[in-house]
Amino acid sequence: QSSLQVPAFSLILLIGVSGAGKSTFARRHFLPTEVISSDHCRALITDNENDQSATGDAFELLHWLAAKRLQRRRLTVIDATNVQADARQSLIDLGQQFNCPLVAIVLDMPEQVLNDRRKTRTDRSFADPVLHRQRRDLWLWTRYLEYEGFSTVYRLKSADEVDQIQVVRQS
Ligand code: CTP
Ligand code: MG
Repeated sequence: QSSLQVPAFSLILLIGVSGAGKSTFARRHFLPTEVISSDHCRALITDNENDQSATGDAFELLHWLAAKRLQRRRLTVIDATNVQADARQSLIDLGQQFNCPLVAIVLDMPEQVLNDRRKTRTDRSFADPVLHRQRRDLWLWTRYLEYEGFSTVYRLKSADEVDQIQVVRQS
């Protein structure tokens, strides 16, 4: 069993297309209160986590919450697709503002796994072009995470690898 080492105080970005398993991963390895999810923020505002019209407000809330936690030096996990460099930049800025180590955990799942999950998924559905765009963004825009400011980058490339992983906090 391999382990992902993360500083006890860190800002962790989960990165992956819809269905990659970000929320599942977050639930398994972190306290519910440590995880800030863009979907949950949407729901807090509109009662509907799929309401895309609330995306702007949801991310404002997400950033605000993250800042309040980092100010108190609480480990914080961002559960959003985070596939585009633009989407990550403001979170990187936030981490740096609070002198907080940045960790990227990329859930880079094979297309087959994503397609299988999509067929059985009941809580959300989305069109092919959306997933296609996210996959392209992941491929194009997550190659240089170290240069963006992440001190640690983990890239998990199969469902098995994700299953085996343990998250270890370094004090
Ligand atoms: N899933 C699974 N096995 C895993 C991880 C996820 O079968 N190891 C399934 C979940 O049960 C869920 C689907 O795959 O039905 C998507 O997982 P989720 O964690 O919700 O993916 P997210 O990346 O959070 O997707 P989204 O961006 O749409 O929130
Ligand atoms: Mg999710």
